[in-house]
Amino acid sequence: MKVTKSESLVVITGHTSGLGKALLDLVHSEKDLSCIGISRRKIFSHPSGNLTEIVANFSIPKEMLDACKKLVSYVHKSKIKFDNLYFFNNAASIEPINSIGTQNSETLIQSINTNFVTASVFINEIMKIEGHFKKLYFIDISSGAAVRTIHSWSAYCSAKAATKMLFKCLESESSRKSHVKIISIDPGVMDTNMQAIIRDKSQDEFPEVNAFIDFKTNSKLKKPQDVAAEILNNLNIVSSSR
Ligand SMILES: NC(=O)c1ccc[n+]([C@@H]2O[C@H](COP(=O)([O-])OP(=O)(O)OC[C@H]3O[C@@H](n4cnc5c(N)ncnc54)[C@H](OP(=O)(O)O)[C@@H]3O)[C@@H](O)[C@H]2O)c1
Repeated sequence: MKVTKSESLVVITGHTSGLGKALLDLVHSEKDLSCIGISRRKIFSHPSGNLTEIVANFSIPKEMLDACKKLVSYVHKSKIKFDNLYFFNNAASIEPINSIGTQNSETLIQSINTNFVTASVFINEIMKIEGHFKKLYFIDISSGAAVRTIHSWSAYCSAKAATKMLFKCLESESSRKSHVKIISIDPGVMDTNMQAIIRDKSQDEFPEVNAFIDFKTNSKLKKPQDVAAEILNNLNIVSSSR
């Protein structure tokens, strides 16, 4: 059964490019559905339609916490009584791409903040206001890197693995709460800015770089728009007939 869109709030971290932008493009055009996008950049200079943009650099704890407060305040102040919350944990950074022992430690900390701490903090704060929603969907945009080691990607692999475990813990703690749904999605390799950053590395920095160049050259990368449509269709947020 299709959800009542007018009473759903969709929150997307990392809504300005790649998969997050593709998700946003589909939900943004659904009238009566409220969206919040949180990234370092904004897409629109003025409030647009049903979209509220929050600017935050997740690698900086204070900005991450402030963004969380803004989200909670939005829910408190909203005149709409939302039935559903869809929280897409999507923002991520692939850097640093270097072997352990050669990484910039500042970048390492920024990676863990962006790729793991952000999800922990947002989920913790959202669960404090769970009573505002009839149903809460927490969707982790995960990666094969969460379950297998990739040379030079230790920070990304570790943070993605930790986030996967965080979602499993939430699922376990919510086992008696039928209103809390946990979903983990590995989108596969997609043609996004993240892939461009990966292809730009030298073989010294990233030994597997040629395989990733091959993905692009031989059109093996998925279109983020196709992945987004499939995700939203499976969640029954938008229909496949769009
Ligand atoms: N692309 C792939 O092949 C692939 C494969 C498996 C899994 N994934 C996963 O899919 C998800 C989306 O990846 P993508 O390929 O679409 O990446 P992308 O094109 O690089 O987009 C990343 C998004 O995250 C935001 N972001 C990055 N660092 C941030 C920070 N410090 N603070 C706030 N926002 C930040 C960016 O916005 P701003 O720049 O405006 O901040 C951007 O909107 C990620 O979780 C990734 O791990 C991707």
